[in-house]
Amino acid sequence: MTDIEELLLSRIRDVADYPEPGVMFKDITPLLADPPAFTALTDALADIALRTGATKIVGLEARGFILGAPVAVRAGLGFIPVRKAGKLPGATLSQAYDLEYGSAEIEVHAEDLLPGDRVLVVDDVLATGGTAEASLQLIRRAGAEVAGVAVLMELAFLSGRARLEAPLAGAPLEAL
Ligand code: PRP
Repeated sequence: MTDIEELLLSRIRDVADYPEPGVMFKDITPLLADPPAFTALTDALADIALRTGATKIVGLEARGFILGAPVAVRAGLGFIPVRKAGKLPGATLSQAYDLEYGSAEIEVHAEDLLPGDRVLVVDDVLATGGTAEASLQLIRRAGAEVAGVAVLMELAFLSGRARLEAPLAGAPLEAL
């Protein structure tokens, strides 16, 4: 394990039985509260943004906003929020996706993603991959290009990486 991986891992708190029995929640608030760890995370994600040639950062509500915004500033790129349905005031593109029970919908301002943009999606966790997959669909429907997906953590046992293989179409998925 690298020094950065060790630092980041040491600042993620496992919370048992949250939000429901049997689930081990990965709480990133200790990492956010620790300047060296949050800075190392921001720098590592900004490196990915520059390496993939991204021109914009999409952050996924809500924790993807906390991580994605400083990455955009550090990399000198625009930040685009992808929000849960009903939160954006302007004309939006919407994308529904399936959850284990039921479905969800995310939205982006249509004018924020344009043909010629190259977009890196930033989030805290890749679990089933449903949210990230829907965000990639939004980016493509806007006519923009996918630079990749970058997350702090990947919960490998939920197979999100396999789900994203086709939607990524060769673009990288990087989990720190
Ligand atoms: C969590 C997490 C990712 C998503 C991953 O967000 O921050 O965005 O779930 O799950 P998936 O890979 O199975 O789609 P959540 O929906 O809990 O929203 P929140 O950050 O607003 O609490």
